[in-house]
Amino acid sequence: MAIITIETTPIKGQKPGTSGLRKKTAVFREPGYLENFVQCIFDGVGGGAGKTYVVGGDGRFFNTEAIGTIMRIAAANGAAQLIIGQDGVLSTPAVSNLIRKYRTDGGIILSASHNPGGESGDFGIKFNMPNGGPAPERVTDAIYARTQEIAAYRIIDDAPIDISVIGDFTLGNMQISVIDPVTDYEALMRELFDFDAIKALFARGFTVCFDAMHAVTGPYAKRILEGTLGAPTGSVINGTPSPDFGGGHPDPHPVWASQLVEIMTGAHAPDFGAASDGDGDRNMIIGKGPDGFVSPSDSLALLTAYAHLAPAYSGGLAGVARSMPTSQAVDIVAKRLGIPCYETPTGWKFFGNLLDDGKATLCGEESAGTGSDHVREKDGLWAVLLWLNILARDGRDICQLRSDHWHDFGRNYYSRHDYENVPTEAADALMAKVRSRLSNLPGTVMCGMKIESADDFAYLDPVDGSLTERQGVRVQFGDGSRVVMRLSGTGTQGATLRVYLERFVEPGGELNEDTQIALAAVIEAAEMIAEIVKHTGRTKADIIT
Ligand code: G1P
Ligand code: ZN
Repeated sequence: MAIITIETTPIKGQKPGTSGLRKKTAVFREPGYLENFVQCIFDGVGGGAGKTYVVGGDGRFFNTEAIGTIMRIAAANGAAQLIIGQDGVLSTPAVSNLIRKYRTDGGIILSASHNPGGESGDFGIKFNMPNGGPAPERVTDAIYARTQEIAAYRIIDDAPIDISVIGDFTLGNMQISVIDPVTDYEALMRELFDFDAIKALFARGFTVCFDAMHAVTGPYAKRILEGTLGAPTGSVINGTPSPDFGGGHPDPHPVWASQLVEIMTGAHAPDFGAASDGDGDRNMIIGKGPDGFVSPSDSLALLTAYAHLAPAYSGGLAGVARSMPTSQAVDIVAKRLGIPCYETPTGWKFFGNLLDDGKATLCGEESAGTGSDHVREKDGLWAVLLWLNILARDGRDICQLRSDHWHDFGRNYYSRHDYENVPTEAADALMAKVRSRLSNLPGTVMCGMKIESADDFAYLDPVDGSLTERQGVRVQFGDGSRVVMRLSGTGTQGATLRVYLERFVEPGGELNEDTQIALAAVIEAAEMIAEIVKHTGRTKADIIT
């Protein structure tokens, strides 16, 4: 083995966001680009010498090649061992589990989550910490600082080893363990859930359709749902990961999982539908019929209310946490349960301290992310299994459970309007204008609703005391309704303005309206507050969830 030092220059615009570094695949394939960034990761985390890391990705185009490069750079930086999923495949929650279970020094995840893959799609790379969670800002800042000053990277001249074969290998002085991607993850799920109850549910004829969207959860869902739990073969659709996700957009959202929606609204709809995203951390839950889609905010509230039916949570929850834009439905459940509910900035990493410190057991985001203290990432298949465990023990179907919940706790109508690829200057100008108006809003009446408070969300972490500011504008109305606005941190083209709209209807209130109609006054108020049409030239959002 020879270590080669290759001179390089800083590359501009490499700032890793909340979910690591995401770029067009073509950018990652430019000579030296990936090498440069991987070297900066090792430099930014204090060097790779003697360390053990988990490495895996969602199987998208360039995954295997990138892992080959990472192993050659890791060996040149003196790493002791890499644990790699067979064929380079590991879901994001599975990486988190492996880091924790084998007490490694962290992990590298290759994914651009739900963004399309392929040669003209997106690619991404993210570093996770020894607790299994995404790197906090101080670490991503250190990595970024290195990208601005890097002069050389180190790589060995040996060819990468073949990761299609399970076993232990050496590359230079480094050990490489290629492992089965599903085994450890399944063992964890078995600890958390009542597999016998779910097995019995399927044995009674309960049917499910899980859409893996040609992405990483295919092998996990097939093994666990169809294999261990006995769901009929064919319950998992699009279950073979493909480098470009079958040409699709692996986002578990009614728009992109339209095949699943069609199945769930069809004549032979199964009892339960679910989907997960590119890297397996997001989930979508859908019951039978035209109104079957369970909004992620409602899903979090329902899981909080019924988690005690699963063995891992039978002793109750220490607390729950939701990202600021997520609806306040879970707050109401937490209050009833007498447990704290934390409101954090957008991005899973903000839940890390609450989970590590035992303050929160369940966490969720409106963007289809739900998880618990079992790992330090959101976990798509975990959410599906918790739902199945609850349904198996409770006996009601999804839609009945949800309507009973609304009847009991009230309903938080909720929708997110996304304006995509807005010119950055226009989006910044809109946010600046809204921020400048905030102090004048409280006390005014808008569209028949009195504004109670308006602020730019700042989060004081109760564990480490760190303050994270400017996390998005919140306008709270007296009747429990709310408008939230922020710019996406994960878009790869222009700016994405996200407008989150919420209206609370007390138990017993009118519940049979269409969500957008129920939210009409809040939508109108959002336009009055932000003048979206004027700033963006758009009269309608691109994506309405
Ligand atoms: C989006 C979601 C956010 C999630 C993140 C990473 O970020 O809104 O909840 O944590 O993706 O999956 P955004 O583009 O809004 O910054
Ligand atoms: Zn994801």
